[in-house]
Amino acid sequence: MEENQNTLKTNRILSGMRPTGKLHIGHYFGVLVNWLKFQEDSSYEKYYMIADWHAFFSEATNKEFNLKKVTLDILIDWLSAGIDPNKVVIFRQSDVPEHLELHIILSALTPMSWLERNPTYKDALENIKNKDIRNYAFFGYPVLQTADIVLYKADTVPVGEDQLPHLELAREIVRRFNYYYGLTFPEPQSILTKAAKILGIDRRKMSKSYNNAIYLSDSSDEVNKKVMSMITDESRIKKTDPGHPDICNVFSYWNIFESDKEKIEWVKRSCIKAEIGCVQCKRELAKKINEFLEPIREKRSYYENHKDELYDILEEGKKKAKQLAVKTIEEVKDRIKI
Ligand code: TRP
Ligand code: SF4
Repeated sequence: MEENQNTLKTNRILSGMRPTGKLHIGHYFGVLVNWLKFQEDSSYEKYYMIADWHAFFSEATNKEFNLKKVTLDILIDWLSAGIDPNKVVIFRQSDVPEHLELHIILSALTPMSWLERNPTYKDALENIKNKDIRNYAFFGYPVLQTADIVLYKADTVPVGEDQLPHLELAREIVRRFNYYYGLTFPEPQSILTKAAKILGIDRRKMSKSYNNAIYLSDSSDEVNKKVMSMITDESRIKKTDPGHPDICNVFSYWNIFESDKEKIEWVKRSCIKAEIGCVQCKRELAKKINEFLEPIREKRSYYENHKDELYDILEEGKKKAKQLAVKTIEEVKDRIKI
């Protein structure tokens, strides 16, 4: 670990997701792409965590919610997308109780005003009506998230844009701890993907609650149906009307799913010159998306038939995560003299 005046560099990555439902292509291009990239970079140690406690904070009174099941679901989604337990540590937050110990320690260093002004929290209070989030644990959500990161002394956190306020808070909490107890934790930096955000098939934010997402687990029929229902350039009524790809959601999907730049240019030109119709354009896009999803589907069917391997992966991850976590907690307790 390198050290200069007030920063630490560990080249360690921690990131996580709450298990709350199937992953869609927005998760893939917004977060998983970076996880996959770092997975191949041996200059970093990688810890990818299923944040089951965080999920519990908004579902504690929901009798239908089954945390064990959704934990396995997200694990299957990650593995299908190519996250490789031989290259990274995959673990479940609740398997390492040290997260909770550090959470309570950091709680005592987090002024309530910081949590009250957290934009993610304010937004959740305004918009989430179908979940029970007016509780003490949910209020402290970013404190546990900070504990998740610094328990491994991670300095790099690849996340989606929506997590930036949490990372900002994490740095503030870290600075406060380091100020009172001596330089202990790195200030974690967030890493975002380059790709423009994918909108849902109806052009709103891609989200389960809008029913507008393409899931990594969708069948080819589902993908075809969803793509064919996408809104295109609304001013293009007849096939002979020239189109405006730059305002067309279908075209923004082409930019994401097609790696051949010339093909993208061809779609663009053909649309502008009214040489292809929207139906053909969508049909070809659906084919591309299905090609992208095919290897993911294959891996999914493997893991669905080898469920015991899932438990082995979590068990292995737990052991590796625990080693580091225990060391950090010992150091922290020593520093706070408890
Ligand atoms: N809040 C994150 C999300 O909803 C999940 C998460 C929990 C996380 N702990 C973390 C992400 C630590 C990065 C680092 O997706
Ligand atoms: Fe959009 Fe394709 Fe139709 Fe052009 S041809 S408006 S890019 S769907």
